[in-house]
Amino acid sequence: MDFKLTEEQIMIRDAARDFAQTELLPGVIERDEKQEFPKEQIKKMGELGFLGMMVSPEYGGGGMDAVSYVLAMEEISKVDASASVVMSVNNSLVCWGLETFGTEEQKQKYLTKLATGEIIGAFCLSEPEAGSDATSQKTTAIDKGDHYLVNGTKNWITNGSTAEVYIVIAQTDVEKGHKGINALILEKGMEGFEVGPKENKLGIRGSDTHSLMFTDVKVPKENRIGEDGFGFKFAMKTLSGGRIGIASQALGIASGAYELALQYSKERKAFGKPICEHQSVAFKLADMKTRIEAARHLCMKAAWDKDVHENYDLSGAMAKLYAAETAMWVTTEAVQIHGGYGFVKEYHVERLMRDAKITQIYEGTSEIQKIVISRSVLRD
Ligand code: CAA
Repeated sequence: MDFKLTEEQIMIRDAARDFAQTELLPGVIERDEKQEFPKEQIKKMGELGFLGMMVSPEYGGGGMDAVSYVLAMEEISKVDASASVVMSVNNSLVCWGLETFGTEEQKQKYLTKLATGEIIGAFCLSEPEAGSDATSQKTTAIDKGDHYLVNGTKNWITNGSTAEVYIVIAQTDVEKGHKGINALILEKGMEGFEVGPKENKLGIRGSDTHSLMFTDVKVPKENRIGEDGFGFKFAMKTLSGGRIGIASQALGIASGAYELALQYSKERKAFGKPICEHQSVAFKLADMKTRIEAARHLCMKAAWDKDVHENYDLSGAMAKLYAAETAMWVTTEAVQIHGGYGFVKEYHVERLMRDAKITQIYEGTSEIQKIVISRSVLRD
């Protein structure tokens, strides 16, 4: 067993850290307040290769491993989780899905642009009545010979208005249940494709979350990913990797809050000494550090499983569950350590606490991760 990072992995981590500090930190509070999408910053992330990290260089990607992806996600998320969700969705849900299951034409047409960040993508599974229960798709994609006719609504779609390419999961054959679901590539501007208003969210307020409405959208057959009926499995397989991305996001949110709390506790004095010298605070820091390190190990293990082509459904779900719960707990404690200052925006920790909440919800709630984990445990 070797816990050491390679020189390349350290370089990627440091580049992401540097980018987060110099490009994302300035204005992060204002973007959160105004719900402003970090457009310029995302453009630069694309130029630096953060939006298609694991995609093969043949399609314009960085050809990096999943461990490097976790390292970069952690650094970006420490500072701006609104930017890191764009990174996670584009890398894990859109690029990976297309590279692994797409046709050569689809890869040339879409992946090459998505991997360089020239355009960004969205992954559209959730619906008003199908969040956790993802097989209950109401959006339909009726087979019309050379095309599908798509009708329905998708909810809470990350990159909803900024994406150019949307992977949409829809039911073609109701009789066949989940085996009658397809994954289709839709493009912005297709007739009958409408983007709803931006959601006003508790956290990751800079990210661009919308409903999407489809009315008789004609999608060419060549835009289907995989065989007829592969859509649900496509979504599940893609989400397994997505969960490693969100686990690393949660890890980053937790470590960002911890670093701020540690620093503050050394500077702030109460009862004649820095508050970190009071055991009540020192023990909080010890617990935060320990849980973050445990979350990091779970993220790294899941990424390593992916890199060595082991199954990562279980390790990804455990990483997502534990890191999300850790993020919520650590950020709440970080606010507590900051006292009154933690409750105001300038100190960042209240935003990190609000951002942490979504990691327990999207790409499978903590409860869904427990379903995945317990089923795996009981099956083996
Ligand atoms: N890989 C491959 N196939 C899988 C799979 C996986 N990881 N997980 C399930 N499947 C297959 C099953 O084998 C089964 O196929 P067969 O019948 O051929 O065996 C089929 O999929 C259906 O599986 P289940 O019977 O287990 O289905 P279920 O209804 O019990 O649901 C679930 C399983 C795990 C709860 C699933 O519905 C789920 O993951 N729900 C959560 C959905 C989710 O994560 N949504 C996130 C939205 S995306 C998002 O948030 C993006 C963003 O913007 C940030």
